[in-house]
Amino acid sequence: MAALNRLQKIASHLDPPKTVKFKVAVLGAAGGIGQPLSMLLKMSPYISELSLYDVANTPGVAADISHMSTGARVKGYLGPAQLPAALTACQLVIIPAGVPRKPGMTRDDLFNINAGIVRGLVEAVATHCPSAWVAIISNPVNSTVPIAAEVLKKAGVFQPGRLFGVTTLDVVRAEAFVAELVGADPRDVSVPVVGGHAGITILPLLSQSRPPLPASMPLEQRKALMARIQDAGTEVVQAKAGAGSATLSMAYAAARFADSCLRAMSGEGPVTEYAYVAATAASSSVVPAGLPYFSSPLRLGRGGVEEVLPLGPLDALEAENLAAMKDELLGSIRKGVEFAAKGP
Ligand code: NAD
Ligand code: LMR
Repeated sequence: MAALNRLQKIASHLDPPKTVKFKVAVLGAAGGIGQPLSMLLKMSPYISELSLYDVANTPGVAADISHMSTGARVKGYLGPAQLPAALTACQLVIIPAGVPRKPGMTRDDLFNINAGIVRGLVEAVATHCPSAWVAIISNPVNSTVPIAAEVLKKAGVFQPGRLFGVTTLDVVRAEAFVAELVGADPRDVSVPVVGGHAGITILPLLSQSRPPLPASMPLEQRKALMARIQDAGTEVVQAKAGAGSATLSMAYAAARFADSCLRAMSGEGPVTEYAYVAATAASSSVVPAGLPYFSSPLRLGRGGVEEVLPLGPLDALEAENLAAMKDELLGSIRKGVEFAAKGP
């Protein structure tokens, strides 16, 4: 028996697991999202090194998470002087740094504080890991992603297929609510959610739900379901009554998004995922005209976005909602671009 164990040990060294492993950073790792997200990432088989960066409390969070008996090596980094080391050689950077909403606020009310935070962090990404995939969670996502893009452009390292606004929580919520309604296991439900990540810019394509919604479902009920998905963030903000916004479901959603990115980077493609990305010449035929950023279904591969996939057929209610969101989404995009143009 002992000889067999010894042989198995030697064999495992000769034939190591085939999974490619990556260095991943979480910026804002000690926050309400950052902590559970870091815990979930520590369980990922794709991560060899997990960098936990924040301006407060990372030594404690990193010490705590590092005691989990899973593969990734964890290191905490505290304050701007340690940011370069946190980022160097990272392949994926996830950014939940910034303030969350309180009841009565819109996501855009966070712009004044979070725009500067995202700009500063992405400037560091541009310097220390310019090829990394960057996933922005900080709100207002509709503006913070254009800010990040402008910073990367200014540094000459922008790759549109590697910058993502994380909208996975909208998809996760749509799956959960539809599953509840049709009595299915949420793991068997898929609902495309496209557009942006605020109010009416969140567009669930309920007509493409799998399993489908009952054909007999009245239009008013369908509208109410759409509104619940669009307002789900506010539902959590109100329930938390001043103690912040969604953190646990967001950590789950971001871990799921990170897993898709890492599987794609590993060559386990094709991986399909939704995210808010910059439009390019290649995507111009599938993304609604006049919107330089839009959340769409994406095919991810080793190098990032390989293809922006078509939205598929929209019913009358969805087409109406798509038309209605355009001015708001464009306004948020312009606000981000103008902020970045002004400089620090
Ligand atoms: P939080 O206040 O609990 O945590 C934010 C963390 O960011 C804190 O630990 C803080 O120290 C850190 N931070 C602040 N400035 C920083 C800087 N310059 N560098 C590094 N870290 C910094 O907030 P939260 O609940 O974790 O939410 C974070 C952000 O995520 C908010 O803007 C919120 O609106 C957004 N959010 C987005 C989604 C989405 O679907 N995209 C979902 C939920 C929340
Ligand atoms: C969400 O959708 O939960 C986040 O964008 C946080 C918020 O402010 O609603």
